[in-house]
This record gives sequence, structure tokens and C-alpha cells, in this order.
Amino acid sequence: MGLFTKDIETLHDLYVHQLQDVYYAEHQITKALPTMIGKATNPQLKAGFEQHLRETEGQIARLEQVFQLHGLSPKAVTCPAIDGIIKEANEVAGDIADKQVLDAALTASAQAVEHYEITRYGTLIAWAEQMGHAEAAALLGETLAEEKATDDKLTQLASSAINRQAELA
Ligand SMILES: [Fe+2]
Repeated sequence: MGLFTKDIETLHDLYVHQLQDVYYAEHQITKALPTMIGKATNPQLKAGFEQHLRETEGQIARLEQVFQLHGLSPKAVTCPAIDGIIKEANEVAGDIADKQVLDAALTASAQAVEHYEITRYGTLIAWAEQMGHAEAAALLGETLAEEKATDDKLTQLASSAINRQAELA
């Protein structure tokens, strides 16, 4: 989609574009998570990433159901925002030698990813509801709940252990 093309004319077009964007983002997250699992030291953080990898695979399947509901084949469009968040996460992680400080960085990066997803799914749900796509909105709502739960778990883990361990490192 170029700047001067007219691929997006209606709210429905915009909604589909955003679905394709988040479909791409979820795929990039499934590629990034194994590296984060490998780098994490805190067992709960590692387990949390493993669980979220499985959840993300389910979220991809759920997006495919949403495409299907609209009579569309699943398609991904490059999302520079998620690419940037993941690139920065890798760069910062690569600069950290201490395992506990690295855990704090990984947690922060994962929360940046979750917050990005929360804003995307929140918007998609609002648009789906506005256009009367109740079934799609419900499916997207299941994913939004998972993203929020993951974010809450990361906050809990950071404040109960990871940040303190990083400070003591
Ligand atoms: Fe996700």
C-alpha cells in the first residue's frame, strides 16, 4: 500500500488492514519469543514466555477465524511498529551481560509488545462492534483478555522479584 494509492477508503478497509497488521505482528512475536525464552533466567519468566508462545499460536488461529468470518483469506502486511519494538528488544538484550538485569530488560520489552497488541486489539474490537461484527469482536476480545492477563502477570513478576534481583545484581 503506497502513500498515494487508495487501498483504504472505508472503515471496513481500515479494519481489514489492521487485522493484516496484527496478523503479521503475531507471527513476528512467535519468531521472537523462542529467543526470549532462551535468554530468560528467572524460571517464572521463562515459563511465562513459553505459555505466551502457545497463546500466540492460538491468537494466530483466532485471527484466521476472523478473516474467515469476513470471507477473506488470512494475509499479513508488514507492521514496522512491531518490527521496531522487537529490534530494540534484541539490541538492548545484546548489550546486557548480567542475567538478572537481562531479565528486567526482557520483561520490559515483553510489556512493550503486550501494550502494542492491547492498543491494536482494542481498536479492532471497537471498529468490529461499530460495524456490527459481533462474532469477530468476541473472538478479538478473547485475545485482548489474554494480552492483558500476560501484561498483568509481567507487572506482577517484575514488581515481586525481577526488578529487585536486577537491582541487587
Ligand atoms: Fe498476541
